[in-house]
Amino acid sequence: MYKTFKNIKKINGELKLPGDKSISHRALMISAMAEGESVIINLSNGEDVKSTKKCLEKLGTKIFEVEGEAKVKGVGYKNFIKSKEKLYAGNSGTTARLLCGILAAQNFKTIIEGDESLTQRPMQRIIEPLTQMGANISSNDFKLPLTINPSNNLKAISYTLPVASAQVKSAVIFAGLHCDEETKIIEKIPSRNHTEKMLKLRTEKKNGKNIIYVSKNNYPKETDIFVPSDISTAAYFIVLTLLTPNSSLLIRNVSLNESRLGFVNHLIKMGAKIKFENVNEDTVEPFGNLTINSSELKNVEINKEDIPNLIDEIPILTIAGLFADGEFKLDNAEELRYKESDRIKSIVDNLKKINIDVEEKIDGFSFNENLKVEKAEFDSFNDHRIAMSFAVLSMLLKNGGSVNGFECVNISNPDFIEQINGISN
Ligand code: S3P
Repeated sequence: MYKTFKNIKKINGELKLPGDKSISHRALMISAMAEGESVIINLSNGEDVKSTKKCLEKLGTKIFEVEGEAKVKGVGYKNFIKSKEKLYAGNSGTTARLLCGILAAQNFKTIIEGDESLTQRPMQRIIEPLTQMGANISSNDFKLPLTINPSNNLKAISYTLPVASAQVKSAVIFAGLHCDEETKIIEKIPSRNHTEKMLKLRTEKKNGKNIIYVSKNNYPKETDIFVPSDISTAAYFIVLTLLTPNSSLLIRNVSLNESRLGFVNHLIKMGAKIKFENVNEDTVEPFGNLTINSSELKNVEINKEDIPNLIDEIPILTIAGLFADGEFKLDNAEELRYKESDRIKSIVDNLKKINIDVEEKIDGFSFNENLKVEKAEFDSFNDHRIAMSFAVLSMLLKNGGSVNGFECVNISNPDFIEQINGISN
């Protein structure tokens, strides 16, 4: 689908966005593992979370969803049943990688496959630690499809994460829930911490590293979960408001988990007028309202240790960087090459379409110039975050722009267009 966007004169009003994608995946998986009925409020309505839901249903979980509320009848300890068909994780790395941690501990064989993009993405990062724990996983040269064979009891390990990845960490945690002894996971650079928070795991900080402990004692029980709105989805509306003159926006009940605030904190350093209000920290996952006002921005250094906490927001941060004073410079972000698309290449290719002199490196890119064009055509590279970022840029161009392959936004936010229409004029 070729979608055109007109220049937007003003943003004004309020938004309520779908539930956080990362928390929604985990809420479904944790509820499915527990015995008894859990209720999840404000589950994400994106395709990725639907992929997780369908996989869990094929493994024997009963899930009833009515108007953003999901009732999940979990199966209990090691009680999933063999799926009659292969599991299809679609475009979702979180579905494929986290489910592997659970499936490694079951006593039946499962095959996981995915779409063209997911089939290109690296799986060695989960196969390696799960194999150390005793899992028996075969793959197509460390890519999907994965066959998770039954293995005898998994054993606890001590594992230092070689890459800052919440998906790898969570796969090991889920496998660790099936071990008598305690598994110890060491993170040199912290990544999003939803899994350890939702399972209330013991964590400690030592010599600047995070250490997470998990065993069978942490196996989840049924519970009610409120999923705050997705800050990664809010990111597009935040940047659009900041860069549109005379604009203001209120976004309600956004996830304010500290491991996801890298983007907002970085924008504030750039000069963005963003305020946190009605912050609720008494729940497992904190949330609150964000108010955003048009701002003048300047580019500031992106610190290496902040990268994992704003990794998904780098495409839209680049758009903010185009309108900010000074040089935009990204390093230490090679992980971007292993996302839904090679995001370094996708961003650089789109910037070249508008004649930005951008220097590409293996782990980032840089540019130091402002926009020269008034109209442009972009490509989504079938990647929802690239599609929404360049939709925002199109709305900021004097004569608008278009994004080819825009339908991939359904992965995280099927209502993007309606939401834009509701706050713009
Ligand atoms: C996610 C972790 C991150 C992130 C992805 C969602 C998660 O990936 O980019 O969109 O829900 O755990 P990595 O674990 O590969 O860094």
